[in-house]
Amino acid sequence: MNKEKAQQRIKELTDIINENNYKYYVLSQPVLSDYDFDMMLAELIKLEQKYPEFAEPDSPTKRVGGEITKDFQQRTHKYPMLSLSNTYSEQELADFDTRVRKLLPDEEIEYVCELKYDGVSISLTYADGLLDYAVTRGDGVVGDVVTNNVKTIRSVPLKLKGDYPANLEIRGEIFIPLAGFAKFNKERIENGEDPFANPRNAASGSLKMQDSAEVARRPLDCYLYYVLGENLPFDNHYDNLLEARKWGFNVPGYLAKCKNMEEVFEFIRDWDNGRDKLPLEIDGVVVKVNSYRQQEELGETAKSPRWAIAYKFKAERVLTRLNKITYQVGRTGAITPVANLEPVQLAGTTVKRASLHNADIIEALDVREGDMVYVEKGGEIIPKIVGVELGQRPAGSHKLKYIEICPECGTPLVREEGEASHYCPNEESCPPQIKGKIEHFISRKAMNIDSLGEGKVEMLFDKGLIRNVADLYDLNYENLIGLEKTIEASGDKKEKRLSFKEKTVSNILKGLEESKKTPFEKVLFALGIRYVGQTVAKKLARHYRDMDTLMKATFEELVLVDEIGEKIAESIIRFFSEEKNIEIVNRLKEKGLQFEMTESASPKSSKLEGLSIVASGKLQNFTRDEIKKTIEENGGKAVSSVSKKTDYLLAGENIGPNKLAKARELNIPIISEEEFLGMIG
Ligand code: IVH
Repeated sequence: MNKEKAQQRIKELTDIINENNYKYYVLSQPVLSDYDFDMMLAELIKLEQKYPEFAEPDSPTKRVGGEITKDFQQRTHKYPMLSLSNTYSEQELADFDTRVRKLLPDEEIEYVCELKYDGVSISLTYADGLLDYAVTRGDGVVGDVVTNNVKTIRSVPLKLKGDYPANLEIRGEIFIPLAGFAKFNKERIENGEDPFANPRNAASGSLKMQDSAEVARRPLDCYLYYVLGENLPFDNHYDNLLEARKWGFNVPGYLAKCKNMEEVFEFIRDWDNGRDKLPLEIDGVVVKVNSYRQQEELGETAKSPRWAIAYKFKAERVLTRLNKITYQVGRTGAITPVANLEPVQLAGTTVKRASLHNADIIEALDVREGDMVYVEKGGEIIPKIVGVELGQRPAGSHKLKYIEICPECGTPLVREEGEASHYCPNEESCPPQIKGKIEHFISRKAMNIDSLGEGKVEMLFDKGLIRNVADLYDLNYENLIGLEKTIEASGDKKEKRLSFKEKTVSNILKGLEESKKTPFEKVLFALGIRYVGQTVAKKLARHYRDMDTLMKATFEELVLVDEIGEKIAESIIRFFSEEKNIEIVNRLKEKGLQFEMTESASPKSSKLEGLSIVASGKLQNFTRDEIKKTIEENGGKAVSSVSKKTDYLLAGENIGPNKLAKARELNIPIISEEEFLGMIG
């Protein structure tokens, strides 16, 4: 390709990908298949590497991050970012309306009601249609420049479309949707990191990260709700806001024009009831005077405009007795205090437990066993205790003393500087830690030995057959056959009887044997080294190529690896400095697990990453072995029978009716050989 053609192609790819991002992230109507999208992005990255001078300012490659910001620059807002006056009372909201009408006698007033999104406010400045600056609110006058991080949010346009004003500022809220938050927090816990208390904290923490590549991995999104500028097309808030959609902005549809307070209250009522169905947390409704002229006449106080007010919902809150505080020990030894409550109805569910997070939170609340406590459901998946009803504190109650020894194994707990949680350091023999580590090892994203799921690890541990992950590979027919155990009912789970017959045993042994082919990067992740999640494991495996080299790496060498920070490096050094870990690694190596990147073990692509695929029937281009190899080489897992964990059924000629029926029943997509070839390119 000559230079001219390359420049043209770069422009073309930039436009197609940006348009697709807009359709996908703003309109939720994707046009390109994931596959075509990936291919185009890969082509663009390559072309931009060769001809960096032709990279467009709105190149979607900026979205993957990579820029590091050591210290955020500060920038003065062109228009100060005021906050809103708040109220929880309907009367005060009615007073607001009275005040507005008094200041604008005999005028018609139109209000715009919007939702009050619970995230972090952001100001975006566009010059000639290109995103110039993204600045946090800061103190309202000066904020932090977080442009690199905000560029990773796919729904924020890098370049505007249509007939936009040359200079434009638009404000909105950056947030993490609830579904993304739950998944993200789960991954953090799995990687031994402290979970975020709520989506708002996670969003604000993400925005202030130095490494934008890490920000790109967080499920951030952005809603816009306020347009500012000199040459706006309309003379009112509502029309300009809707017009901003045409420029490519993600302006949510949860807004309405209201002629009077009855309509305002109706909007509030509807959303107070409907907020559970929203994809994100809201904490109220914002009421704004629509006309700019009226806004100007109303003016502002030092802190907030007189033309708008926020009505905050009262969080659903109940009072119940805290019967007992118990402590859970996680896979990494982290202790989580749990409040066991007198069961109570809250927001449609029965609440029996609430997390108390850590010792500091207990201290701050001064919550004690026997107290009547207020419980709220917020963005958190688990409800939280927000306060104690001191008036009902039982006589003779005494301050809670946080545990000093592990409730499971009796080892004195430690708390490291800068860490919120206490830890049980007894990794070697603290039962929930051992079981947790083994469960992590066999989990789907790690060694994926699903024949050992559903209580089997617990049983094998209780029978004394496994004490660490290496012991799994010593299991054999003789010590498994005939094992029996009743698993007691706990929580919502019913009592269950496990008994190991021929089929179970043979599946377990087969699963273990199969797992020996799991590629090195997954084995490394499976070991459960603190802070070594999937991404870090992949980075380490690709950098060091084999376990021996990784084990010899010094702290200074590790921190030089892309994305490996001091905390991770320290954790790796600590892991390999322990004799028992070395012994486990050596035993696993002897058993034949992959401890180096081999051609066949290192996927050629990650197009099928995490996908479980059943191929069945006669295929044109592959033998049975070949299809299996191809799936694995692209990061997928080839499985033989259809279950609810299957992602695709690849149907060849004369495929068995049972497999087809099962896939249909479970709603599993059935793909043709051609479609499969399309997926892997
Ligand atoms: S308008 C001058 N609209 O609430 C008016 N704010 O205290 C500027 N917020 O910092 C704000 N949803 O982060 C507006 N639909 C919405 C909002 C909203 C959430 C936040 C915003 C602001 C705070 C006001």
